[in-house]
Order: sequence, then C-alpha cells, then structure tokens
Amino acid sequence: MPSRQLSLSPVQETLLLTLYARALDSTAPNPILGDPLAAAVADRIAEDTGYDFAKLKLKPSLVAGTALRAGKLDHVIHQFITTHPDAVVVDLGCGLDTRLARCAPPAGVGWYDVDFPEVTDLRRRYLPDDRSHLVATDVTEPHWARALPHDRPAMIVADGLLPFLPGDSFQTMIRQLTARLPTGELALNGYTRFAAWAMKYHPTIKALGIDAAQGFDDPHEPEHWNAGLTLVAEQLLTRAPEVAAFPQPVRALTRLMARSTAMSRQGTRILHYRF
Ligand SMILES: C[S@@+](CC[C@H](N)C(=O)[O-])C[C@H]1O[C@@H](n2cnc3c(N)ncnc32)[C@H](O)[C@@H]1O
Repeated sequence: MPSRQLSLSPVQETLLLTLYARALDSTAPNPILGDPLAAAVADRIAEDTGYDFAKLKLKPSLVAGTALRAGKLDHVIHQFITTHPDAVVVDLGCGLDTRLARCAPPAGVGWYDVDFPEVTDLRRRYLPDDRSHLVATDVTEPHWARALPHDRPAMIVADGLLPFLPGDSFQTMIRQLTARLPTGELALNGYTRFAAWAMKYHPTIKALGIDAAQGFDDPHEPEHWNAGLTLVAEQLLTRAPEVAAFPQPVRALTRLMARSTAMSRQGTRILHYRF
C-alpha cells in the first residue's frame, strides 16, 4: 500500500521522466550510462507512493538519449574535478539525479544540488546518503547564488533544465552565477529553438501540461549573454561512439541524422563553455 504522496508541479514532475529513463537504461541489455542507483530510487518511489512510471510511456530514443547526455555531462565534470580537486560543482535543476554518486568526487570538492524545495525534500528522502549541499530555490529568483562559495573554481551543470525556464531567465541566471563565481565551466544539454518548441508536443510533456520553452540554435549565442562565456565545445550526440549501443531502430535513425549537422543539432547536444 502506498504510504506517501508525491506533490509535485508539472515542471517538477519532469524529474521522474529523466530518472526513469536512466533507471530503464540501467536494466537494458547494453546500458549506456549504467546507473543502478537510479533504478533503486525509482523502485522506492513506486513502492512508497504508487507512482506509475509506466504511464510516462518513455520511448527507447528518449531512454538512450537521456542516458547518453548524462554520461557526457558526467565526463565534463569528471575532467574538471580531476584538474580542480578544490572545485565547487553546481547541478542546476538536479531533480533526483544520482550524479554525485556516479561522479564520486574527491573529498575536497563541494557539491551543490539546486532545485525547488519540493524536490530537495525528495532528495533528502530518497538519496539520504548524498553528501551534497542542497539549495532549495527557484533558480529564477535573484539572490539564491549567495548560497554558493565564491572563491573556488566552479563547474556548473544544467541537465534538462533549459527548456523549463521562461523567457530569458536561463541567461539571466547564468549571468548572475558567472558574476559571483570567480572562474569555471558550464555544461548543459542544448535545445535549438525548434527542439524546445517541439518538446511541448512530446506526448509526455504534453500530458504534464508544460508549455514554457526556450532554446537557441547557434552554440556561440551564449557568448553574447554578457556572462563571460567562451565556447569550449559542442558535441553532437548523434555522432557519439555510444550510439553503437542504442537499440534498433533508434540506432539506424540516429546514424542517419548524424550525416547532417543541422539535423544532429535538433537532437541531443552537449554545450560546454568556460568563464
Ligand atoms: C527534466 S528535469 C531534469 C532533472 C535532472 N537534472 C535530471 O537530469 O534528472 C528538470 C528539473 O528542473 C527543475 N526546475 C525547473 N525549473 C526550475 C526552477 N525555476 N528552479 C529550480 N529548478 C527548476 C525541475 O524541478 C526538475 O527537477
């Protein structure tokens, strides 16, 4: 019998979608990310609350893409904390991602998981062993970044957050962060304007009733946000070697898309900047 309730807004509920995608990936014959903790957390939520993850009807393409982008972002973080063992990692819109466990940062790294209070409460419940600092805030609020140390190199990551922030609030937030933090890097999964717009029509997102959307096409665009960002790399994930592990027919379709840069940009891409 479910003993608890999940009270999440539609935007917050999207965290279950990405969590479940990583959970499904972990039980696939050829996992791309391989995150068994994600599956354990999803199982516990289903037991506690009766949440029906199957209703999300996740397509294999979404499972593979979510797992792959998580792995690529982990890799960027891993490189940063290897060269900056005193770094601060800031995971914006962290949801119930088990990224800290996957990245296993050295003790000198300060890890900050940022999301709405309803979500940080869930993290306390379902990821009690994480040693992260939880920052319970709406990231579009102006002063929350004061919760972060301002004297250490910072790795900012935003996995699946961009399309949920209305208007230009994503860039305003990044401007505030880079003004506070002395130096560092930003990594996110980018959405083109079309991809962000089209996401509203994704059956799951539509069912959750979400319509905020934002994206940008040119990976250099954030260099003009007055946030001191310089593009380090744009990775088009249609061309990643891990696509070999995608199930068919997703693999064949992804390889077809990989032939065109314009098409690949509409799929998942990792954007990496320094400031
Ligand atoms: C698609 S989920 C991704 C969660 C997580 N990054 C992952 O990969 O599993 C989007 C997350 O962004 C958070 N989010 C959206 N808008 C936000 C805001 N204004 N302030 C804080 N968090 C926000 C949601 O609560 C949710 O956890």
